[in-house]
Amino acid sequence: MTALIETAHVTRRLIDPETVTLVDDACLKIQPGEFVAVVGPSGCGKSSLLYLLGLLDRPDTGSVRIDGILTDGLSDAERTHLRLERIGFVFQFHFLLPELTAEANVALPIRRLGRLSRSQADDRAHELLAKLGLKGEAHRRPDRMSGGQRQRVAIARALANDPAIILGDEPTGNLDSANTRLIVEEFQRLAHEEGRAVVCVTHDMGVAAAADRRIHMLDGRIVPEPGPA
Ligand SMILES: Nc1ncnc2c1ncn2[C@@H]1O[C@H](COP(=O)(O)OP(=O)(O)OP(=O)(O)O)[C@@H](O)[C@H]1O
Ligand SMILES: [Mg+2]
Repeated sequence: MTALIETAHVTRRLIDPETVTLVDDACLKIQPGEFVAVVGPSGCGKSSLLYLLGLLDRPDTGSVRIDGILTDGLSDAERTHLRLERIGFVFQFHFLLPELTAEANVALPIRRLGRLSRSQADDRAHELLAKLGLKGEAHRRPDRMSGGQRQRVAIARALANDPAIILGDEPTGNLDSANTRLIVEEFQRLAHEEGRAVVCVTHDMGVAAAADRRIHMLDGRIVPEPGPA
C-alpha cells in the first residue's frame, strides 16, 4: 500500500540570525486509514513538522512524498495545487473569513480548485456542513457561532476537496471537552471509515490517546515513546 505521507530524513533549519533546527532528520510513514497524533513539549517542532508534511514549507534536506508523489522538485504552483487537491488543514484558530457565511467559507477551496461550477460548489459545501451537524448554520457567519461550531465549519472546509490527508495543529486547543470529543470522533471516522490519513498535533492527552498511534518529538527530532518514569 502506498503511504499517504512519507518523509525521508527531513531537516529544516533557520539560519538567520542564529541557526535554529526546527525539524531534525525526520523519517515517518503514514498509511491510509491511520489517525496519528504528534506530541511533545512546546517548541519541540510539531507545527514545523506539520507545515512540511502539508507542503506549506520546504525542507532544507530530505524528501517528502505525498501519496507517492515526490514533492521536492515541484514548483510552488505545483505544490499549491497538490495541497489544494489532497490536503486539508484544521488549525487551533479557525481562520474562517468573518464576512462570509459558513457555506461560502467551505465553498472557497472548492472554487479555487475549479472543478465544480459555483452552484455545485455551494451544494457540496452545504452537504459537508450538514454531515457535520451544521445544516441549520450554513447561512450564518462564523462570528455568530460558538467555538465548537466554528471548528466544525473549519473541518468542513478542510474536507471541501475530499482530500486524502487531514492535518490538524491543535484543532481542539480552544474547545471544551464535549466539543473536543466531537472533533476526535470525526477524525476517527475520517480515518477508519473513509480511509484518510489524519495527523493531529495536540497537547491534549485524551486526543493523543484516541489516536491509533503517537509520534513523539523532542528538540526537533522524532523520538521513541517515553517509557514509564
Ligand atoms: N519563524 C521562526 N523564527 C525563529 N524561530 C522559530 C520560528 N518558527 C519556529 N521557531 C522556533 O522553532 C522551534 C519549533 O517551533 P514549533 O512552532 O514547530 O514548535 P511546536 O512544537 O509546534 O510548539 P507549540 O507546542 O508551542 O506549538 C521553537 O523553538 C520555535 O521557537
Ligand atoms: Mg505548534
